[in-house]
Amino acid sequence: MDIEQLEKSFIKRFGKSNEKIQFYFAPGRVNLIGEHTDYNNGYVLPCAITFGTYLLVRANDSNVVKMVSENFDYGDEIPIDKLSIPQSGKWMNYPLGVFDQFIQKGLKPSGLEMLYSGDIPNSSGLSSSASIEMVTAFALNDLFYIGLEQTDLVKLSQKAENEFVGVNCGIMDQFAVGMGKKGHAIFLDCGTLEYELVPIDLKNYKIIIANTNKQRGLADSKYNERVAECNKAVGFLAKIKKVESLSDFSYQEFVNNKHHIPDINIRKRAKHILSENQRVVDAVKVLKNDDLRVFGKLMNASHNSLRYDYEVTGYELDTIVEEARKVEGVLGSRMTGAGFGGCAIALVDENAVEPFIRKVGENYYKKTGLKAIFYISEIGDGTKKLNSSEN
Ligand code: GLA
Repeated sequence: MDIEQLEKSFIKRFGKSNEKIQFYFAPGRVNLIGEHTDYNNGYVLPCAITFGTYLLVRANDSNVVKMVSENFDYGDEIPIDKLSIPQSGKWMNYPLGVFDQFIQKGLKPSGLEMLYSGDIPNSSGLSSSASIEMVTAFALNDLFYIGLEQTDLVKLSQKAENEFVGVNCGIMDQFAVGMGKKGHAIFLDCGTLEYELVPIDLKNYKIIIANTNKQRGLADSKYNERVAECNKAVGFLAKIKKVESLSDFSYQEFVNNKHHIPDINIRKRAKHILSENQRVVDAVKVLKNDDLRVFGKLMNASHNSLRYDYEVTGYELDTIVEEARKVEGVLGSRMTGAGFGGCAIALVDENAVEPFIRKVGENYYKKTGLKAIFYISEIGDGTKKLNSSEN
């Protein structure tokens, strides 16, 4: 991202002033394994990526917050006493949700000019929304000297999405975006928020992100449907022992007690969550032992479970994953994020990257009529303040 260019764009939109422009960055994320487990207090293993959202902010002495984005046509001027009012269907709800959380904590914001610019593809499952939330939370915390810890900003951003945007997401995205570290994945227990940074040494392998370019139209409503189904499973299993969430059960306990869940679909949802928790634990072990082959197998098993038991993949994701697995030099492939479209990842021998992109791209296009886009994922740092010269 060309920061100087962004600064020029900022001045073009808002004009010059004596106030200093401040620069912030929040990354997107990929999840290596552990999908849909976060809102069940389970385990996840995401990492921050080097794509993300840049935010340039400057104070002004007006009573409005001016928000514009390089990625969307519309922006707005919002009076500071209207910052807690959602705007129907607009990207600004992500930053406004964060403002609203701070206002609930007693912040009285003053006028600001804000320019957002991101290089994460929207609706691709790489957490562009969490990235916008976290960069806003970090900036407001800094500008208004609020003094919250990074993990508080993570929780606040998740709450903004739950309460203001209306998606009952778990904490994984905001946590990875906030707490990511270059070269590491985050092994996070979403129940306790205890975490471990696991060094990722992929040897001669690369993680390739394959964007299906299938936008997740119904994602949010289906997402909330899965959250509700998991809660129903907890209701059935709570007859056996006192539990708060599905992750209070081990996979074996689930196998022994699954007959207590009469609804076959709810049973399948629980099976995915509890087998996926186990796969995350296994993945951390094998990654620490550099056993990338077994990690690839766990990726495959995770996708299959999301496909057949959790039913959040769909034709495009299944096709791209199937095509990826056919290429020589691929150790494993799975969807990443919420599913229903968006991105898959594959662990690919570095010598096979070029044929991978060509073959998967061609075959996916033949089968879906959609052009996939591929990125080589680099693991980057979490949300931070930038010097104006930094990229
Ligand atoms: C979305 C949500 C996360 C998580 C994933 C699925 O990205 O925002 O909280 O539930 O889906 O693992």
